[in-house]
Amino acid sequence: MLRALMLVPLAVVCASAAGQSIRGVSPWASGVGVADRIADRPEDWPLLTEHFSHVTPENCMKPVAVQPEEGRWNFGQADRFVAFAESKGLKVVGHCLVWAKDDRTPPWFYRDGDKEASKELLLARMKTHIGTVVGRYKGRIAEWDVVNEALDDGKSELRESGWTRLAGEEFILRAFEWAHAADPAAMLVYNDYNDELDGKREKMLGLVGRLKARGAPVHAVGLQGHYEIDRVPYEALEKTLAALRKLGLKAVVSELDIDVIPRGRWWADGGRHRAEMARINPYADGCPPEVLARQAEQYARLFRLFRQYEDVIARVSFWNLHDGQSWLNSFPWKRVNHPLLFDRQGSPKPAFTAVIKELAAPRSPGSQVTR
Ligand code: XIL
Repeated sequence: MLRALMLVPLAVVCASAAGQSIRGVSPWASGVGVADRIADRPEDWPLLTEHFSHVTPENCMKPVAVQPEEGRWNFGQADRFVAFAESKGLKVVGHCLVWAKDDRTPPWFYRDGDKEASKELLLARMKTHIGTVVGRYKGRIAEWDVVNEALDDGKSELRESGWTRLAGEEFILRAFEWAHAADPAAMLVYNDYNDELDGKREKMLGLVGRLKARGAPVHAVGLQGHYEIDRVPYEALEKTLAALRKLGLKAVVSELDIDVIPRGRWWADGGRHRAEMARINPYADGCPPEVLARQAEQYARLFRLFRQYEDVIARVSFWNLHDGQSWLNSFPWKRVNHPLLFDRQGSPKPAFTAVIKELAAPRSPGSQVTR
């Protein structure tokens, strides 16, 4: 009798994902990248605080926002963001200290009057930048994306940029050392996209291995996780998570979304399909149920895989709160996109229900991890 009474409410709760929260059922920290002005958007707060424990500011802590010119610091938005997160009991993931791309680095970093800066000058500037930003929020930012997107997509190890041209790989090593010196308690992440794919994975493992061998405080590898429907790289991801497990390294899935309008061709063949692609906008009036169902299945398979590596994964963060706020509505061209777990009204999509189901499922004995 007692047993029956106890089982009924449990069954009712389990039958529906409504009322369950991502943070409530995640074995890792659950995060989301949100608009810089979240403090001014009370309509977003309930969804945010119900489902997530960690927040990443979408843009306001990037170098170009914080120090657009040497010594001209802009902390207004970032200060408000951190204060807001604290007021809601959310942990902040700082993003990012160095974005190792020329179009994402304020040009003054590389210049010395009318010539290129020396390696010493570039590194001294980076040291000031990192020390000032990390120091300002010491003890208040749980994790930092220290270096973002430094690996090359082609044949080179590192992406061609002023950073590598002037300072080689050393800027990455120093960035981690100086971030750690400014806040020894912060978890430090090397973050990149496609770093789970064959080829780039080896570069990522090589880089992190060399950094660790030189004593760098790299605590986790960030897998951005910007995926496309029907092309989620499960096998590559599994190989990457297994390799990180073997090396005793943590992973964070730092910017997860599943685009329903594939975009890969945008970069193919020297960009020659762009004019044609810029007109593609198939789901402007809503995403068809069969596409939402496919997206849900693919999210489910992804989270099933993540759960097999829950000893490796320290955090899973989505990139934006709901479909209406996704960066994929404008990158790399304008379209109405539907990549997240919540629709434009903030209501749960089939993908939400599917993810909750995977997260709440008991681990089957067959999927027991070997550590
Ligand atoms: C994106 C933001 O979402 C956009 O608002 C901005 O215009 C460009 O940057 N990888 C990253 C993030 O590390 O910083 C990017 O964020 C998305 C890709």
